[in-house]
Amino acid sequence: MKKTPVILDGDPGHDDAIAWVLAKASTQLDILAVTTCCGNQTLEKTTYNAGRIMALIGLDVPLAAGRIKPLLADPMVAPSVHGVSGLDGPDLPSPLREPLTIDAVTLMAQCVEQQSDQVALIPTGPMTNIAAFLLLYPQLKNKISHIYLMGGGIGHGNWTPAAEFNILVDPEAADIVFRSGIPITMAGLDVTEQALLYPEDFDRIGAIGSEVAKVTAGWLEFFYGFHRALGYHGAPVHDAVAVAALIRPDLLTFQDLYVEIETTGDYSRGATIGDVYGISNKPANVRCIVDIDREGFVDLLVDAVRFYGRDADE
Ligand code: BDR
Ligand code: CA
Repeated sequence: MKKTPVILDGDPGHDDAIAWVLAKASTQLDILAVTTCCGNQTLEKTTYNAGRIMALIGLDVPLAAGRIKPLLADPMVAPSVHGVSGLDGPDLPSPLREPLTIDAVTLMAQCVEQQSDQVALIPTGPMTNIAAFLLLYPQLKNKISHIYLMGGGIGHGNWTPAAEFNILVDPEAADIVFRSGIPITMAGLDVTEQALLYPEDFDRIGAIGSEVAKVTAGWLEFFYGFHRALGYHGAPVHDAVAVAALIRPDLLTFQDLYVEIETTGDYSRGATIGDVYGISNKPANVRCIVDIDREGFVDLLVDAVRFYGRDADE
């Protein structure tokens, strides 16, 4: 089977990290590069964390840091969710490699130019780099097959009542991406808050016994700490749903929608406004994920972690 070339762009972050564990374990994906953005923590911290995750999972591909700030907004970080390091919890190895001296957008362009096939992008943080790529390299737009993103929520937000964190950090970037015409699959809060791993699922992962298994269970435990205090019964592994959308769409239910990003608004900046009733008569620009087979998703993650128990060259 031909692999899909992908670029992972994120702000790791516990659930970004688990999304990358899932992506690396998939035989369906050819990961060309990892790029980082500011979001859960500063760009310096997310880039360092990306290097540490890559070392843990043996993901030996080019890494480049993106823009130090959102396109227009001031940076916003989330230490309450991911800790001061941006990836608090279990000890991790030192970064496998230093980030390249070129920036994320240049690396994306190089990877895309070198591929004869189209490339899919999987952003799991604010979409600053993706928007910058589209602004700086419009001639490469047609080489992007699809954007599988974690962000937004048609029903509600999580950082304000209206806005989800990734979109709120850089609404102008999200607006550029959502208007791009590139096929988009949106793993928003509507589904990702159902993508819960419960404590017994952490135990199942930890019991696999490999280093990746123990660390992943520790990440889940840490991430759950924040959510438990809010009344969740498990850890919502938001970002891994964006990867699952590409490799296991059979676990998911989709709804095509026209979605706009609110970039102004007294109360609603960063909201993803979905035209659920077709009032605008505008064609759908987003395939929203609205439901998930939770147990199938847990099995998918467990199987992914098992991959690292084997010889990674297998
Ligand atoms: C998103 O925000 C971040 O904290 C997570 O990594 C995820 O990408 C969920 O709102
Ligand atoms: Ca993220």
